[in-house]
Amino acid sequence: MSVKVRFGTRDDIDALVEVNCSDVETWYHYSSEGRGNPASYDELSSWERVMHGGPWMDRSALIEYWKRMERLNIISLVAELGGKVVGHLDVIFSEEFPLGYFLYLDVLMVHKAYRRRGVARTLIKEAEKLAKSRKAKFMLVQPEEYEGPSGLTYRSCGFKKFLEVYVFETAVDVSVMPQNVCLTTIPQTQEVPLKTHTMICGWYNIGIKMWDHGVNPYIELSRVFSCPQLALCTLTGKEMYFFYIRRDYFNRLRGSIALWAPISFNEENLEQVFSAAKVVASWLGIRHLTTRTIEKYRDLLEEVGFVLKSKAEPYLAKKL
Ligand SMILES: CC(C)(COP(=O)(O)OP(=O)(O)OC[C@H]1O[C@@H](n2cnc3c(N)ncnc32)[C@H](O)[C@@H]1OP(=O)(O)O)[C@@H](O)C(=O)NCCC(=O)NCCS
Repeated sequence: MSVKVRFGTRDDIDALVEVNCSDVETWYHYSSEGRGNPASYDELSSWERVMHGGPWMDRSALIEYWKRMERLNIISLVAELGGKVVGHLDVIFSEEFPLGYFLYLDVLMVHKAYRRRGVARTLIKEAEKLAKSRKAKFMLVQPEEYEGPSGLTYRSCGFKKFLEVYVFETAVDVSVMPQNVCLTTIPQTQEVPLKTHTMICGWYNIGIKMWDHGVNPYIELSRVFSCPQLALCTLTGKEMYFFYIRRDYFNRLRGSIALWAPISFNEENLEQVFSAAKVVASWLGIRHLTTRTIEKYRDLLEEVGFVLKSKAEPYLAKKL
């Protein structure tokens, strides 16, 4: 039986939830204290199901997420085997400094009962055709594990290590707002600033997705966990910077930050903006900020007081 790939639609939502749920062996309750007792799928609320792997785990959450996919032009490639939906690969085109124009492979999942039959390989080949047809320069992905099934799948399809990712941390030890920084909310007219600005830190995902998380947060999860988050704009002279801080769901003293600076930023201004971001983190009760960055900004983060903690899974790329 050969694998057929097509564009997914809202009509595929139930089948996509089934594919993703196949990966979960035991379901658990969740609260602001963290993971609770095992439970059946039916006993869990929508957001408790989401905690097991994102909005693909629950029908109503995926209906909601589909709006976000449409806003961001995320394309869902759906794989069928004998007429049954057995996998999907969600992809998004983006143009960002310093990467250029590329196709990002965002989410890949194959039903547990249909693995090692070439479903993922066929989905990735279709993504490649799409990327070539729209003249993307390369495809990019951050596999869950370089040495695990996801990394091995992409590497078997010709993907190579492209960007190392570094995990940094800093103590929130500043409480006075720097004088030459003016904090404001992000103007509603603000265009996604990914060609004029660079993501210095926040490499949990590519810029377009991190920006969207910042300006359109998942309200339901923030509400359930009483977990504050703020996306702000800072002005220093003529330069505009943006940052997004979120407190962790389960550890109230920790949070994470993503920060965008103009492409040719002034290092002194950047230092001031990081100080301002730390002050904002302290307003949210955060004592330690974590972030991720790439080689290009590693030294810079150390200069503004972050300490290298570990490496995360690298991004892989395939040139086209
Ligand atoms: C990773 C995943 C998508 C692979 O899907 P799949 O349809 O089983 O993959 P394919 O059959 O197309 O495999 C293609 C090649 O990848 C490699 N590969 C895939 N799974 C592997 C595994 N578990 N161990 C070793 N190599 C593996 C093999 O080289 C394989 O070719 P082969 O079967 O001829 O040896 C699937 O295991 C999955 O959904 N995992 C859980 C979610 C996940 O990790 N998603 C990726 C997030 S980035």
